[in-house]
Amino acid sequence: MKVVAFNGSPNKEGNTFHGIKMVAEELQKEGIEVEIVHVGNKAIRGCLACNGCVRNQNEKCVIKDEVNEWIQKMKQADGIILASPVHYASIGGTMKSFLDRAFYVTSVNKSMLRHKVGASVVAVRRAGGVPTFDQLNNYINYSEMLMPSSNYWNVINGTAPGEVKQDEEGKQIMRVLGKNMAWLMKLVENGKGKVEEPENEDKIFYNFIR
Ligand SMILES: Cc1cc2nc3c(=O)[nH]c(=O)nc-3n(C[C@H](O)[C@H](O)[C@H](O)COP(=O)(O)O)c2cc1C
Repeated sequence: MKVVAFNGSPNKEGNTFHGIKMVAEELQKEGIEVEIVHVGNKAIRGCLACNGCVRNQNEKCVIKDEVNEWIQKMKQADGIILASPVHYASIGGTMKSFLDRAFYVTSVNKSMLRHKVGASVVAVRRAGGVPTFDQLNNYINYSEMLMPSSNYWNVINGTAPGEVKQDEEGKQIMRVLGKNMAWLMKLVENGKGKVEEPENEDKIFYNFIR
């Protein structure tokens, strides 16, 4: 089984990266491969709201950059980690641009991520960790993914790159998350062909202003 983890920090090996690594270590102990994709240092523009992905139905965003390759990585993975530093009490800008575009594409193309396992990880100096965690979880919830939990919200504290390694509670949160994620992934894998998946309902859009 494989997990793809998206590092939304501009820092390649900053605190977000170390948070991912702590979760990844537990996944790897259970034989799950982990690939880390560095999103935060790329030039990813935001969604154009052109609805090209809705019209084309080809699993692609019309903008030509790394996002389409990352969508395919998510499609091929069994599990997905969305990780971001806190920037102004929210998701880092580049990561947000990626998530808006990628998850719009995956949701309008027959729920491509449905029943994959997904978790969020946040690195923060002081404040804004939980709102950012909630924002990342919105993408996972919208996609009918399955979310493992930890023994707290998945936030780790530190400022300078690597400082999170001193956050003992944060380290446990990431460790427990990794263990629970591996376990959930194994449950899903072992249930395939044995436990029937519920029907994939067509999404109803009932707008308030018609
Ligand atoms: C533009 C910017 C905005 C930030 N905003 C916040 C914030 O709102 N709250 C906070 O506690 N830390 C804030 N920080 C600090 C980072 O969240 C913190 O240093 C984090 O560990 C960085 O993770 P990284 O090393 O993966 O980039 C901000 C940092 C930057 C660069």
